[in-house]
Amino acid sequence: MARSLPKPIAGGLFISLEGGEGSGKSTLIRRIEAFLASKGCDVLVTREPGGPPIAERIREILLDPASRAMDPLTELFLYLASRRQNVVERIRPHLAAGGVVISDRYADASVAYQGGGRDLGLERVDALNREAIGDCVPDLTFFLDIEPERGLARGPGLTPSGGRGDRIEQEDLAFHRRVREAYRAWARRHPGRIRVLDARQSAEAVAEAALAAVLDLLRAKGVEA
Ligand SMILES: Nc1ncnc2c1ncn2[C@@H]1O[C@H](COP(=O)(O)OP(=O)(O)O)[C@@H](O)[C@H]1O
Ligand SMILES: [Mg+2]
Repeated sequence: MARSLPKPIAGGLFISLEGGEGSGKSTLIRRIEAFLASKGCDVLVTREPGGPPIAERIREILLDPASRAMDPLTELFLYLASRRQNVVERIRPHLAAGGVVISDRYADASVAYQGGGRDLGLERVDALNREAIGDCVPDLTFFLDIEPERGLARGPGLTPSGGRGDRIEQEDLAFHRRVREAYRAWARRHPGRIRVLDARQSAEAVAEAALAAVLDLLRAKGVEA
């Protein structure tokens, strides 16, 4: 039997997931992806840093534990460059075609990691983000909030890079705490877009809360669901 064609959504639908290591982003993405596919959406899952080949090459430089000498602004510019390339080559075209994009981290991650963690300043990073992404802002962002100790203790998830141990993951606890505080402050500033989920809950409870929000968004976009 022929499969039905994916349902286009005017302007597409863009969802990003944010949070520290082990907060459950990859786990939740699989649930959202399956849910949206079951609704007939054309779903593209992408991750940061990375995506198209140019962005994947930037990812290697960023995450390589040997890149110890990297300056914080250099780090920010590389994230922005990777993001820009992913927006232009993958994200924007998929949204323009009426598809759904789910990104494992996006612009808010730079606000939290470089703005907060590296202390470059949230507003400063936000301004540079805008240069990189233009109007390509997510419709909905989930921030999976959990104490860094607890997330890190969950152990490696199914990350394509092979789990924990990359250059950013190896930062000390104080760094991860600054990242979390920055995410929380940023979420308070963007209450309409950023949905905070208590990531200490079971994966099932997190998914239930997230899928309810995704369903609301589908309805708001005029998709029968
Ligand atoms: N809500 C949860 N409660 C307990 N363990 C979880 C939960 N969500 C995910 N996990 C587990 O924690 C680990 C990290 O999850 P993952 O989704 O890979 O996190 P992230 O992508 O944010 O680093 C995995 O082993 C996963 O199965
Ligand atoms: Mg992950």
